[in-house]
Amino acid sequence: MSINVGIIGTGRIADMQLAPAMQHVSGARLWSILSRDNQRAAEFARRHGAQAPVNAHTSLASFLADPSLEAVIVATPDGLHAQQAIAAARAGKHVLLEKPMATTLEDARAINETCTEERVKLGIAYHLRWHKGHQRIAEMLHDGKLGHPRYARAMWTWKADDNSNWRAHQELGRWWGLAGVGTHCVDLLRWMLMPQCGEVTRCSGMLDKSQYGGPHDETASVTMQFEKGVVADITTSVVFSAPSRFELYCDDATVICENTLGPTGGGSISINNAPLDFEFENPYVGEVQNFIDAIEGNARIVVPGAEGVRNVELLLQASE
Ligand SMILES: NC(=O)c1ccc[n+]([C@@H]2O[C@H](COP(=O)([O-])OP(=O)(O)OC[C@H]3O[C@@H](n4cnc5c(N)ncnc54)[C@H](OP(=O)(O)O)[C@@H]3O)[C@@H](O)[C@H]2O)c1
Repeated sequence: MSINVGIIGTGRIADMQLAPAMQHVSGARLWSILSRDNQRAAEFARRHGAQAPVNAHTSLASFLADPSLEAVIVATPDGLHAQQAIAAARAGKHVLLEKPMATTLEDARAINETCTEERVKLGIAYHLRWHKGHQRIAEMLHDGKLGHPRYARAMWTWKADDNSNWRAHQELGRWWGLAGVGTHCVDLLRWMLMPQCGEVTRCSGMLDKSQYGGPHDETASVTMQFEKGVVADITTSVVFSAPSRFELYCDDATVICENTLGPTGGGSISINNAPLDFEFENPYVGEVQNFIDAIEGNARIVVPGAEGVRNVELLLQASE
């Protein structure tokens, strides 16, 4: 038996990554689509093979009223996540929610609490957790094979063509580069460092908004300090494009990841200048597979709602 999964939103991540990934997830079936536009929903449903008898919706209520729909992936602008995820949970559907999970701490907490109350699974879509190279580093680090971590930094940027994207504006977004990619870096650093270094105890950021002069970060420099004293830095930007880097400095190892922060599961990694072999696997397949396995009771959710709430809290501190 397959779990019937609906997708809310027909944009870039849904079309390029999530719906295609579903084809490779065992035990999952793309079922139905919710869009603001019926033709867009129908075309998306046809292109990706959504199988519900009525597979295209423009009303959240009718989309969620389908008793055969069991789980929902929310892939809409950040400011819409709370209303849609909470409605899905209230309708008894499991939720895989794109990052960042909300634009306010209150909304993030409300989503998490509703999913707990309704006893539905909630996963937050930090796909870098399924990058095979990152998984190997985490395993070695957490097994003590790299020595104690002393410092880490992540840099991920892209150059936006203009400021027309919703992330640049207050109506549907709360951060720009920090929401596009910085939130992934926060998750990556907490995943890597917390087992040895404890929680983040301080987080602060410097934001540059000077090119477009809008409300949200264009370039951000964020520093987090962990309980046991380790410091980690994040740089994000939407006004220049640089190769992505994740660097981790431990007592016994220097780990350099080049171009692993991205959608592909690729890039290169060295540990003490020696290349690290890892399989190139689509991380979105792993992410959706974990969600399905958790619904079936065969796995725990790797990035549960509480992690998403904490991430939003840190983004807010970084952009105060
Ligand atoms: N994990 C990752 O690697 C990753 C990568 C990119 C994005 N994301 C996350 O996924 C979510 C969607 O991002 P995206 O880049 O896919 O955005 P996008 O390309 O702008 O797509 C968002 C979709 O949401 C729907 N939508 C509903 N109401 C909307 C409104 N008022 N304005 C604009 N769109 C609206 C639209 O579909 P309809 O027109 O069909 O209604 C739109 O295509 C965000 O939370 C983002 O942070 C995650």
